[in-house]
Order: sequence, then structure tokens, then C-alpha cells
Amino acid sequence: MEQALARLEQLKENISEEINKAASKNALVEVRNMHLSKKAEINNMMALIKNFSGADKARFGQAINDIRQSLNELYDNRMRVFLDDEVSVKLASEQIDISLPGINYQAGGTNPVFLVRDEILDIFISMGYEVKEGRDVETDHYNFELMNIPKNHPSRDMQDSFYISENLLLRTHTSPAQARAMEEKKGEMVKVVCPGKCYRRDNDDMTHSHQFGQIEGLLVGKDINLAHLKATLDLFIKKMFGPKREIRLVSSYFPFTEPSVEVQVSCAECGGKGCPTCKDTGYIEILGAGMVHPNVLKMSGYDPNIYSGFAFGIGIERVAMLRYKVDDIRRFYQNDVRFLKQFVRK
Ligand code: PHE
Repeated sequence: MEQALARLEQLKENISEEINKAASKNALVEVRNMHLSKKAEINNMMALIKNFSGADKARFGQAINDIRQSLNELYDNRMRVFLDDEVSVKLASEQIDISLPGINYQAGGTNPVFLVRDEILDIFISMGYEVKEGRDVETDHYNFELMNIPKNHPSRDMQDSFYISENLLLRTHTSPAQARAMEEKKGEMVKVVCPGKCYRRDNDDMTHSHQFGQIEGLLVGKDINLAHLKATLDLFIKKMFGPKREIRLVSSYFPFTEPSVEVQVSCAECGGKGCPTCKDTGYIEILGAGMVHPNVLKMSGYDPNIYSGFAFGIGIERVAMLRYKVDDIRRFYQNDVRFLKQFVRK
């Protein structure tokens, strides 16, 4: 018994020393495999227990367990030192220089044409209008005929288009959405705004583009008159450009409205006094509008003796140009980020 205990003590000393001397994680693991595995001497010594009697059995078993436990603890502590070192080395090698300028990821934004479109729509939605989109490819019937522009009518020249076939074209205005809305409402009150793209075979210049955005407005009901149109557009202009801006209606011509008006807004530069921006008139043309022509109502199934309505067509780019003092419509389509990033959604 005493001999066995002495051997245990010796083993404890030897193994402790080896654990302490292990110079690396791998060396330490090797020590464990050699001296602390199941088949290691210290564990084999458990077998001796059967040679002892009574109290000695317990004493010896306890001694082996104590030694094993203290060696395992020693091993764990030593291992932790190695692992901590590893982490420190890794941290040191992966250190980030926080004084270096970072990579700047720029989020994209919305094109100003769409920002302004949404602002215009919001204003009309707040007045109870419903948003309805028409279609980019229209038939001659909707684009012209139902808008009171029969074949060979001279006003077709003003809106020459891109034809897909003899009767199919890229719409020249959003007005055909009027006919589609009335068709859908089947004789009931109509109150819609219809945003979308329009196409004209125009020569592009500072104020014209072969493709542009429009918002059509249509209100059809009973006893609707020009005063309603003026009040509606006055509110729109004040919300869009500020409470100081005034509008005036100037007589104009569209085949689908009677009377037709050109809506002008007081010049932001001079407030209506006259300056180079407004060519000394004090006002700037902003949109076309009018009372829906009886023929248009009739063709879309509304009795003009009972119903009346007004319509307007807002050029989105035109509003955006006036609002932000943009000098050339083509800037909206050129994708120059220096221009585009000046516009952010509020
Ligand atoms: N459709 C006309 C255009 O594109 C605008 C307009 C719409 C005028 C509605 C009056 C009423 O020029």
C-alpha cells in the first residue's frame, strides 16, 4: 500500500512537471495522451485496489481520484493559457486601423421625375382622387377618336407619334386614360388622376423630349363647372409651389375640352411683376385643362345633359423644372449622379 501511494506521488510530480514544461498546445496534448489517457499508468493503478482491504481500499481510491483531479485541473489551466495566447495573436493580426477612411457605399435615390410625380399624386389623393394608370401602348381609337380627334383632324399633327401598326401607337398623352376611367365607372362619378409616360415624335430640345411624364386628371359628376377646375388647380399650385403663387386661366384649344384653358402660374422670380424668366409677362405656362367636351362624355357613355366634368394634363418634368429651376429637360434622363443626387425624398 505505502509503496503504491509513493508511486502515485511520484507520478503526480513527474506529470505535473511535464505539464508545466509543455511548450505548446500540441506538446501539452501529447502529455495528456501519454499520462492521463485511459491506458495511462495512473489509471491502470486503479486495478491495484482489489489487493487492498477495507479502509485502505477507500484511502487508495481517494488518493488516485485526488491526484487525477489535480492533474486535470493543472492541464486545463495550462491549456487555457495556450488558447488565450492564440486569441491574442489572432486579435493582434486582425487589428483594424479605425483611423483609415472607410469604404463609402452610396445608396441610390429616386429620380426627381418620380419624386415630383409622387408629390403631385399625394396632393390629389389628399383631395380624394383615385390613382389609375392607363397604358403606354394605345389604340388610335382611345388615343385620338375617343378624345374627339377624328382621323385627318389637323390637331393630330401636334401629337405625331411612334406607331406600332396602323391602329396601335405609343400614346401621345395620358388623356386616353380619361376614356378608360369613364368606361370603367359606367356612368357613375369619376375622380381620377392617371400618371404615366407619353411619347411624341418631337425633336428633343431644352424643353421637349420624345418621352415624358404626364398626370391626367378627370372629374366627372353633376353640376361641375369651370370654377371647380380653377379652385382645384389653385390648391394644387399652392401646395406644390407655395401659398404665394397665383394662377390664371388663359383661353386655349384642345379638341377634347370646351372651353379649353392654359393654366399659368405667377412667376417665382418676380411674383407676377414681369422679369426675364417669365419673358416680362409675370406668368409661366404650366398645364393644359378644360371642361370635358360633350362629345367625349357622350362617346364614353355619359349624357352631357346630365353630366359635366373637367380635365387637366400636368407635365411632370415641366413641374419639376419650375419647382427646382432645372434649365434643360434632358438632365432628368442623362443619369448624371452629380445632378440626380441633389434630389432626395423627404
Ligand atoms: N392631353 C393634353 C396634352 O397632352 C393635355 C390636356 C389634358 C389638356 C386634359 C386638357 C385636358 O397636351
